[in-house]
Amino acid sequence: MTEQSFINQMEPWYGDEEIEAINNYLKEGGWLMEFKKTQELEKIIANFVGSKYCSILPNGTISLFLALKALNIGIGDEVIVPDYTMIATPNAVVWSGATPVFVDIDDSMCLDIERVRDAITDRTRAVMHVSINGRAGELINLKKLCEEKGLFLIEDAAQSLGSFFAGKHLGTYGHIGSFSFSVPKIITMGQGGALVTDDRHLYEKICKIKDFGRITSGVDIHDEMGWNFKYTDLQAVFGIEQMKKLDCRIIRKKEIAKLYHELLSGVVEVKFIPTNLDMVAPWFFEILVPNPTELKEYLKTQNIGSRLFYPAVHTQKIYKWVKGDFPQAIDFAAHGLWLPSASQLANSQIEYVCARIIEFYHK
Ligand SMILES: Cc1ncc(COP(=O)(O)O)c(C=O)c1O
Repeated sequence: MTEQSFINQMEPWYGDEEIEAINNYLKEGGWLMEFKKTQELEKIIANFVGSKYCSILPNGTISLFLALKALNIGIGDEVIVPDYTMIATPNAVVWSGATPVFVDIDDSMCLDIERVRDAITDRTRAVMHVSINGRAGELINLKKLCEEKGLFLIEDAAQSLGSFFAGKHLGTYGHIGSFSFSVPKIITMGQGGALVTDDRHLYEKICKIKDFGRITSGVDIHDEMGWNFKYTDLQAVFGIEQMKKLDCRIIRKKEIAKLYHELLSGVVEVKFIPTNLDMVAPWFFEILVPNPTELKEYLKTQNIGSRLFYPAVHTQKIYKWVKGDFPQAIDFAAHGLWLPSASQLANSQIEYVCARIIEFYHK
């Protein structure tokens, strides 16, 4: 038997189309900076998710920060965030000057709405919902709660491009939705982020503060605080080609998820988090096991990459000041493992991964 070459937990996927598009752009003398190609990509993304406006940004952390700034959120304000998420979610809140208020998650790994209700104070300005791995959780009820309490709903949909709920794309329920195009995402431009909204005023504010707060593009008069968070057309050219491949990747992600389920469903140690594949294009393929670290180490010896779930945010050194009870976040973090998740995985590779997991538990 030939040795299995290493299967990465995640890797980018691009081909001749991206190479040719970049080549043509450079041969035509493109100026590299944000211009028409970025605008073209913004239109493509807005159309895909069904939003009126889209602004592309350097990454999905900056996009969360800018969403908060566009909503005038800062010092003295509180923003509710889940205790289970990628660290960028609370960090963007801290960066804005506001205080993140952590709330536990429910069985979908998204915000527990009852705990959100309890966490609202006079200082709360917004709730940041994170659709973990494309799941919506209580998004619709959360939207109602935000409306009732006069709060902004920001959707961190970094993991959710290609995932819908009740016929609407995730990221489009809130006042602003945020996406990421870093390498592990379903499509990538190396780095990248996007904000989507239906609110013209908010969109204009985002465009202004990402360009130093200029009163108009190319004019050095600034009537509000701003930064340089513009994108580059060079990356946008790449992104336009990636977006052409998104529909196929959504189909493939669902096929792979089904295959993992089918092959591992008989392993009593392996549990799945309920996910409706009619609507969700899973970003990473996740399992819950009694001993994820040991399984991860074993898979590594078999040339298989995997990755432990994020720790609960309040257990990270920089958030040790956080008080509260987060049993669900702790429980998921202690048991979760992400398996190889690239859209280009072959069925034979998935079969190999599952066979090694079965072997680990049944040897
Ligand atoms: C939920 C969530 N929010 C924010 C981010 C940050 O995005 P970026 O890496 O593009 O800054 C990520 C990245 O994985 C994420 O998963």
